Formats: sequence, C-alpha cells, structure tokens
Amino acid sequence: MPEPIERNLGFELVRATEAAALNAARWMGKGERNAADQAAVDAMRYVLGSVEMDGVVVIGEGEKDEAPMLYIGEGVGTGRPPTADLAVDPIDGTRLLAHGLPGSISVVALAKRHALYAPKHIVYAHKLVVGHEAAGAIDLDASATTNLRAIAAAKRCGVDDLTVVVLDRPRHAELVADIRRAGARIKLISDGDVAAGVAAALADTGVDVLMGVGGAPEAVITACAVKALGGDMQCKPYARDDAERARAEAAGVDFGRVLLLEDLVRGDDVFFAATGITSGELLGGVRFFGGGAHTSSLIIRGKSGTIRRLESTHDLRKLQQISSLGYTVTDGG
Ligand code: FBP
Repeated sequence: MPEPIERNLGFELVRATEAAALNAARWMGKGERNAADQAAVDAMRYVLGSVEMDGVVVIGEGEKDEAPMLYIGEGVGTGRPPTADLAVDPIDGTRLLAHGLPGSISVVALAKRHALYAPKHIVYAHKLVVGHEAAGAIDLDASATTNLRAIAAAKRCGVDDLTVVVLDRPRHAELVADIRRAGARIKLISDGDVAAGVAAALADTGVDVLMGVGGAPEAVITACAVKALGGDMQCKPYARDDAERARAEAAGVDFGRVLLLEDLVRGDDVFFAATGITSGELLGGVRFFGGGAHTSSLIIRGKSGTIRRLESTHDLRKLQQISSLGYTVTDGG
C-alpha cells in the first residue's frame, strides 16, 4: 500500500496555474489561440519542473509527436518522491481567451501514480456531474428527466429549482429539449466545461448539474476536482462518427461502459488547482496594473476536503522572463 502524499501539493501546483494564467492573459482578445496556449504551456511546465515530485503527465497536450511540452508520458518535477500522475490543461477555454470572453481557466490536478484514467483512443465523453448532496443519485444510462428528478429529490428541491450547464453544441439539441421538458433551468456555455463541472460540484455556485458531451481529457481533470469535493460524476465514451467509433472499438474501447468517479480517479489522495485567466463565475480573471497583476485561484485537497480560494498580487518586475514569447512568469513566488 503506497504511502499517502503528506505535503499539500496544491500550494505548489497553484503556482503553476498562476504562472500559466499570467502568461496567457497577455493574449486576451488577440485572436491567437496557439500563441496563447504556447504561453500557458511554457509557464506551467517551467514551474512544474521545480516541484519536488516524480510526476508523469497522464492528461496533457497530446502525444509526444504532436506536443513537445507537457505531452502524455512526459516526466515532470524534480524526479524525487512522491510519485504522482498529473492532469494538466494550461488553458481550458482557449477560444474564450482568444476572444476575450469570460470563463477561461488554467488547471492542474495531481493524484497518486496510476490513479488517473487515461482516455486512450477517445476524444470525447458523455459527462454527468453533481455536488455532494446528489452523490449516488445519478445514472448516466437513465434519461435526463430521471436524473434531474433524482438530483432534485436528493437536494430537497424541485426540478425547476435546478440549473444545468450544457455546452452549446448541435449534438446537444435533444438533450437540451429533454432538460427543458423536465423543467430545469439551463445555462448554455460556448466553451469551458471544466469550470462548469467544478461549479456543479461546488456548493452555492448557482450551478447544480453538468450534462452533455465534452472533451475526454477535460473529463478526467474535472473528475479530480469532483473527487476532492465529494461530489459525483459519471462518464461514457462518445464517438463523433462511425469511423471514430470503429477505430476506438478495435482498440478495445467499450462504448457501453459507464465510468464511475472511482474509475476516473482512484482514491482520494488528489489535488486540484485552478486560476482564472478571463473573469468567469467560478474565478476572477487576471487583472494587470502598472508593474503587476492580480490572480484568483482555487485549491482543493481530496484527503482533507479543504477548499481554498487564493487571491494573489504579483510584482511582475521581480519575475523572471522565461517565455519564448517574451512575457513574464512567476519564478519562485
Ligand atoms: P480547449 O480550451 O482545449 O479548446 O477546450 C475547450 C472546450 O470547450 C472544453 O472545455 C470542452 O471539454 C471541449 O472544448 C469541447 O469540445 P468541442 O469544442 O469540440 O465541442
């Protein structure tokens, strides 16, 4: 039985999400998704490299041949214990950032080695996320109406009191119609289902449920926060077309299997850190002022269930220039 991770690595991880957010926020509204992503990746990788851990990226920027940094399988940290699995999303909501819209965040999650599900051969997944009050009440194989009734009963409210977040995509036309028929309120978002999933799992955010199909890597990152918060989540692989489905099935993916929260993240030795890039409902965005910047972050530790909100002020004149794009990022702050 491996030892628990004693240090609260969340405090170290949040430096990486702050750095990524600070670096990426310079690209707000510039319409340059790739440049923004590169700035976030550069900064996040730099800071993660100094964290005392023997980490492996399980959820990252893609396979090694398509992503030179923070690729799946890349070792991060100093190489000394504890061993860990990492899930990184330097920017969730790249399009939002590129357009200067609310809701882009930078995220890192960490769990024990081999604790995270690696969604090989699938790009998308059905997701259903709720907070702790409705834990145990959800079933991805049941209809939206059945789930919403069960969630409302668990939360001792009516279905019409619930707010469901759904990515605004044509593939969700039927789901949205079902939710409307059931009587729940809907919040359609254009991107960023990690922040939406975390909001569904957190109390008092005004969001009760996340439903619909989004990125599979984002599902695992969201699951880390949900696990740490004591919420509940279920997922199921989704294919965009028959060819994608056939390829995945040939590689062993079972499209009928519902993945439970414990399948996505094993155990509760899990850490989650996120920093807002553009202002959203979950987190404030990066705000620059002469020589400095403010960031808003969230740190969650699964073992203790502690949720911390961190407001930081950064003196950008004291930070080291590391980015290939010439922006400043935190170094040791
Ligand atoms: P990126 O920031 O990586 O572009 O992801 C944004 C996002 O909205 C995710 O939050 C979501 O899971 C996924 O894209 C949905 O994918 P798609 O836009 O293809 O429907």
